[in-house]
Amino acid sequence: MIRRYKFGSPMDTGAVLRRLPAESTPMPFFSVTRNEGSVSFACALDEDDQIFGLGETVRGINKRGHLYRSWNMDDFSHTESKGGLYASHNLLLFSGKKRLFGVYFDDPGEVTYDLGYTRMDSVAITSVNGDLNVYIIEESSLTEICHAFRGLVGRSYLPPRWAFGYIQSRWGYASDAEVRTVVKEHRDRHIPLDGVCMDIDYMDHFKDFTWNPEQFPDLHRLTDDMHDDHVRLIPIIDAGVKQEAGYDVCDEGLEQDYFVKKADGKPFVGAVWPGRSYFPDFLREDVRAWFGGKYARLMDEGVEGFWNDMNEPALFYSEESLAEAFEKADGLRGQNLGIDGAFELTATFGGVANNAEDYRRFYHRVGDRQVRHDKVHNLYGAMMTRAAGEGFRRYDESKRFLLFSRSSFIGAHRYGGVWQGDNTSWWGHLKLNLQMMPSLNMCGFLYTGADLGGFSGNTTEDLLLRWMQLGVFTPLMRNHSAQHTRDQEAYRFSRWEDMRNTITIRYALLPYLYSEFMQAALEDGMLFRPLAFDYPLDGMACRTEDQVMLGSDCMIAPVYEQNACGRHVYLPEDMLLVRFRSAQDYDLVPMKAGHHWVDAQLTETPLFIRRNHVVPLAAPAEWTEAVDASRLTLLGWIDGDVSATIYDDDGISAQVRLEDGLSALTVRVQDGTASAACPGREVDASRIIVGEQ
Ligand code: NOJ
Repeated sequence: MIRRYKFGSPMDTGAVLRRLPAESTPMPFFSVTRNEGSVSFACALDEDDQIFGLGETVRGINKRGHLYRSWNMDDFSHTESKGGLYASHNLLLFSGKKRLFGVYFDDPGEVTYDLGYTRMDSVAITSVNGDLNVYIIEESSLTEICHAFRGLVGRSYLPPRWAFGYIQSRWGYASDAEVRTVVKEHRDRHIPLDGVCMDIDYMDHFKDFTWNPEQFPDLHRLTDDMHDDHVRLIPIIDAGVKQEAGYDVCDEGLEQDYFVKKADGKPFVGAVWPGRSYFPDFLREDVRAWFGGKYARLMDEGVEGFWNDMNEPALFYSEESLAEAFEKADGLRGQNLGIDGAFELTATFGGVANNAEDYRRFYHRVGDRQVRHDKVHNLYGAMMTRAAGEGFRRYDESKRFLLFSRSSFIGAHRYGGVWQGDNTSWWGHLKLNLQMMPSLNMCGFLYTGADLGGFSGNTTEDLLLRWMQLGVFTPLMRNHSAQHTRDQEAYRFSRWEDMRNTITIRYALLPYLYSEFMQAALEDGMLFRPLAFDYPLDGMACRTEDQVMLGSDCMIAPVYEQNACGRHVYLPEDMLLVRFRSAQDYDLVPMKAGHHWVDAQLTETPLFIRRNHVVPLAAPAEWTEAVDASRLTLLGWIDGDVSATIYDDDGISAQVRLEDGLSALTVRVQDGTASAACPGREVDASRIIVGEQ
């Protein structure tokens, strides 16, 4: 059951698709107070209450005990002290002995969350602007709450199947030759690969929808050659449009009045990579149609996937903020700066980027109103994603395209995925990647993953390898790193063969992962879930922060500490440990429910399959189209007959129906031996373990 409560004059954020009447009775669970425009929602917490949700943000799976803030921000320092990252996903789930409900704050502006920080037993959530709809969702389980929520906000985005392949990326690939080298190095070593991301250096002077004519003299030929080699190019598109007379996107935007404007009616200018830039008013439908149509330029050259970046929007500075900073610095010039003055000076320039004041300097047109940006700040990236997603549909409505964005808001999950932004080559960020997966899934973002190996800083060989061991399970499996950091392609490392072997596991699991992803998307479910969702009565499972459920049959528990050769794992039920070294080399270890130390050497990827469930494995392949899903080996530990379903389709058509892609898989046990059947497939049951071990 979902109920809507209205506060102030909320705008349509595009997140919610189902129109519900506003309730006239007081909102349950929270006491509400209004204070000079803002609205706060407070409740008490019992000792055992847990709080899940908030999608892409820092800290653990259970969000209780800290402060969070919905304010999309270009901040590459993802430390525990931060309140949030690039996205605002205002969904919380409260779970305890006395309460079970979800609450969604549909608010495009700043929202702050004190989830047991000021007082461990109290929650206070504040909508700074006070204009919002709040949805209370009551169902019988955490999983059901998320399912009902998806019914409210719509079905998750469906990527093409090739987007589940391994993707190599780096900020700095700047020429046709460099891209070809990256692909060749993978192919020569038989390291599987399906995509290469092109970062800003492919562009002509960082201008959206252009490419450097000297370095990429024939983009069409490049995409064709890559296609022949089963690799897709995935160019980046930034939110800011370079200010340059004669650059058609800039000229058109100015002529048609498509950019956000200051109070005086002049277009707002902020700086990003190309220097001074304009920002499309993505909140307007006509602007989305215009900008979304521009992707066709690259699609006409054979491109089938994009990533949208800098769309919080990131601002290096505005003329105004820079002028103020210079003025302040001038005022301090020549002075003997002590403790306060010195800090004031450095903070002056440190505070120029993504400056709160800048976000109050420009306006969007919403209907016939001018709305100041800070009131709707968190919608900007989502609306850019929507512009692209709608543009793709117009370009070819029969096909699925890859799209993932940095900034997002709930609603954008219908148009694209997200990556988890500029993480660092830290072991803690491997764990953060794991913890963010279920939280993002709760909010509808199923196609997601983090920069494997870490974006900023220099990775280490073992960190990248361990991170790949998580990446083999995340829908977006992309190795990406910042310019000027250590080279991070698998082939740069002495242990490249171990990395290759790890990546082969992904391709062998593709029939399973794709099937589970598509079923989750088409049935409004989750691919990754906290253990608390599946084992709500198991106190230990409910508090487990470093293991997550994957699909309906598996649990993962990656190693996330340097020099570890295994880890502690809690099994809420009997499970089969598959200790992979590669797609073809693995041990099968039946394990009883309870606490275990699980050995996992640096080359080993553990996967846990629930007892009486089976998981199909394909033969190794070097690209997704080469994965032969018609011949599968089943892994499992079963006691009797088991039936399951496998979903598959052509991997590219936009029109998909669950019932068209499902095949029944039946496993029968006779005289202690398993045999299996699945229409249209050869299934090998010889690796299935039967009975008590
Ligand atoms: C910021 C993005 O988060 C990062 O992934 C990208 O490499 C840089 N922008 C440069 O485009």
